[in-house]
Amino acid sequence: MAHIWPIGGGKGGSGKSFITSSLGRLSAGLGRRTLVIDLDLGAANLHTLVGVPYPSKSFSDFLQKKVTRLDDTVVETPFENLFLISGAQDPFDIANLPYEQKIKALRAIMRLDYACILLDLGAGTSFNTLDFFLLSQNGIFITTPEPTSIENVYRLIRSVYFRRIRYCFSVSQFKALEEEAIEQFGEGAFNKPECMMKVIERDHPESYRELQNDFNAFRFRLVINQLHKRDNAVLGLHICRIIEKHMGLGIEFTGNVSYDDHVHDAICQQVSFLDRYPYTKTAGELRAVGRQIFQPAGRQLMLQYV
Ligand SMILES: Nc1ncnc2c1ncn2[C@@H]1O[C@H](COP(=O)(O)OP(=O)(O)O)[C@@H](O)[C@H]1O
Ligand SMILES: [Mg+2]
Repeated sequence: MAHIWPIGGGKGGSGKSFITSSLGRLSAGLGRRTLVIDLDLGAANLHTLVGVPYPSKSFSDFLQKKVTRLDDTVVETPFENLFLISGAQDPFDIANLPYEQKIKALRAIMRLDYACILLDLGAGTSFNTLDFFLLSQNGIFITTPEPTSIENVYRLIRSVYFRRIRYCFSVSQFKALEEEAIEQFGEGAFNKPECMMKVIERDHPESYRELQNDFNAFRFRLVINQLHKRDNAVLGLHICRIIEKHMGLGIEFTGNVSYDDHVHDAICQQVSFLDRYPYTKTAGELRAVGRQIFQPAGRQLMLQYV
């Protein structure tokens, strides 16, 4: 779905919600009806970042049939054109979304009528997160420059990749493929995308073509957040190259967003960082990332005034 942007990262605290809210603010500032959805099931806090401390409705109202349409859970934010589906009132067990409810949620999200929909996903590699990621080919991955965060984002991207492969096969077929990969390439090969794809190419050429087409159509992006002055500014490029080498996945490095204490200040004051601190380096970088992602040809100048 061209207008859906899932935003994820392997690790909590990397800035997924901050980047989601900032991109939402930028997209809305372009005059596009923009919806941000809190899908960090069980740890929702996006509402606070978009200036809605006490949302009256939640994503779970739809799953629990309190309302009939997902659209009925949308609340306004203080920003023109920016809307929110919050997770603030979700029940404690929402993280363990049963399969039928997940399918219901996925279908409902695809039917929503907004120019831009940003999904704030939870950390980790649960099937829920992976399936929300695969709703669209526009996934945006967030990591900090710390090795732990990079390791987790790499694991997440690999999990999304494997999850997409899994869609093509039954449980027993997939098991057979794993065994085949181990036999051909040795212990641990079932965990290596390139080995699995070689086996699929030989045993299931049609699925292989379908997967290749899909992987080629992905427009995955990587953003490095909380970059400090002494960090390597081209780290993102290196990570993308490694992913391309091992998964054959083209992933675009979309930019760095510097660490700035004002982010903390803005969050504590419950105001939009971009509005309160528009002249900081970090705000400029966020706008540059926004331009890269939304590419509103001919209207790029407007982003500078959000
Ligand atoms: N660019 C940044 N500069 C400084 N602090 C940041 C930046 N991005 C995020 N943070 C801090 O990290 C915390 C976690 O961000 P958040 O978006 O909630 O992470 P996630 O959603 O990935 O768990 C924020 O509360 C904020 O204090
Ligand atoms: Mg979050």
